[in-house]
Amino acid sequence: MANNSKLHVVMFPWLAFGHIIPFFELSKFIAQKGHKISFVSTPRNIDRLPKIPSHLVSSITLVKIPLPKVEGLPESAEATMDIRNEDIPYLKKAFDGMETELTRFLENSLPDWVLYDFAPHWLPPVAARLEISRAFFMIINAWFLAFFGPSEILINGSDERKKAEEFMIPPKWVRFETKVAYRRYEANWIVASTQKNDSGVSDIYRGGNVIHGSEVIFIRHCNEFEPDWLKLLEELHHKPVIPVGLMPPQVEEDDSQSWVSIKTWLDDQNIQSVVYVALGSEVTPSQDQIYELALGLELSDVPFFWALRKPSGSDDSYSEILPDGFEERVKGRGMVWKSWAPQLKILSHDSVGAFLTHCGWSSFIEGLSFGHPLIALPFLADQGLNARIIADKQVGIEVPKNEEDGSYTKNNVSDSIKLVMVANEGKQFRDKAKEMSEIFGNKKLHDSYIDNFIKFLENPRFTLSAATSTSA
Ligand SMILES: *[C@@H]1O[C@H](CO)[C@@H](O)[C@H](O)[C@H]1NC(C)=O
Ligand SMILES: *[C@@H]1O[C@H](CO)[C@@H](O)[C@H](O)[C@H]1NC(C)=O
Ligand SMILES: *[C@@H]1O[C@H](CO)[C@@H](O)[C@H](O)[C@H]1NC(C)=O
Repeated sequence: MANNSKLHVVMFPWLAFGHIIPFFELSKFIAQKGHKISFVSTPRNIDRLPKIPSHLVSSITLVKIPLPKVEGLPESAEATMDIRNEDIPYLKKAFDGMETELTRFLENSLPDWVLYDFAPHWLPPVAARLEISRAFFMIINAWFLAFFGPSEILINGSDERKKAEEFMIPPKWVRFETKVAYRRYEANWIVASTQKNDSGVSDIYRGGNVIHGSEVIFIRHCNEFEPDWLKLLEELHHKPVIPVGLMPPQVEEDDSQSWVSIKTWLDDQNIQSVVYVALGSEVTPSQDQIYELALGLELSDVPFFWALRKPSGSDDSYSEILPDGFEERVKGRGMVWKSWAPQLKILSHDSVGAFLTHCGWSSFIEGLSFGHPLIALPFLADQGLNARIIADKQVGIEVPKNEEDGSYTKNNVSDSIKLVMVANEGKQFRDKAKEMSEIFGNKKLHDSYIDNFIKFLENPRFTLSAATSTSA
């Protein structure tokens, strides 16, 4: 394909904003180079996207495909944040119902590429039939994907890996030293995700088929951090694995009322004195876990800014979620912010000294790109493995939890915060995190990954030849 001809790239993320946003960011990078994007999602999700920068508006077309109705899925729910965790399988089932409309769209528009998420296990064969280049875009890092092994195991299961214990050690295909493994309480959840679900198939099966049917894997990872996992992925899947870099987001001008009031509060705090607390948009902690976190923040005596989200699909008021009188007792020292918080702006403020995070990959990247040590409180999916890496790399610590049930106490929270924020022994974590910002926050480095990725889109044949000969 000649370099001066514009590509048409279709993007199709899973229906979770933690997935939609990285797909959207990648779309902007591709559009920036003069290519055309069709960004496909459901109407309500499209309406909730951030604004497209004016210079890219003509290059990015937002395509609305309605979400079919499915019994069990609440009316107007179109993303994971609209529903309770236990209803997610119904959302997946509805998502699978988008196949007909998406296929029609691809048949009519015949794009050069389609980039999709782990969920649409039916999509790669459709794209192959239409001779559309097809790629899995992995918004999470390489260790999470490699931990689950080759697509044979993802699709057909493994006789050796059925019990929680087998996920509590590094798998046999990892031949280098690593701390990456699940704890018991996390492994139980992982075993559940290998089981067939109300959506009809397991998540692992979805991912396996998506990878198996793809010509290439694009992944939000870089060679400067844990590169062994990238090589392992290529060995496991026998196809090119192209890192798109970490895509560290850029802080933008913000004169919104909410940022003005947050900034006023942060301006009054001492330099690097505040712990920023946020558990992301997908995690739903139990009432107990929120209580212990709140009481731990109170006990630590450290200033904090807590971006608190109500559990998705919940009608409880915040006063029912937080311990009695909590906000009154921490007034002045602690701020509980109950609507959407501009995380990047907060992390970029001089008063912030650490980030207590659920360890989602985006938050991991954002925290370290500003050089903040991380206090890890992981819950689901890749988060536990990310927390092991944080501890191993000494860019932070993990809040200790009960090995059996994953519970933690206010003391566990408070001790962790004090260690990272104030103790002399905490200096090593603060220093290491600062050092790591040279990789994580290096815009030039990550821009070069994006350039390389887009060159691949423009001219895939040459680099793909090895892979197509094995998968043909
Ligand atoms: C899964 O098992 C089926 C039936 O044994 C086999 O035909 C198929 O090739 C396997 N899939 C992979 C990806 O190994
Ligand atoms: C379905 O998957 C969810 C996680 O995605 C899990 O919480 C639930 O227990 C699973 N249900 C069944 C019946 O396996
Ligand atoms: C967690 O807290 C409990 C009680 O609050 C304590 O007994 C336990 O030792 C703590 N765990 C660690 C690893 O500090």
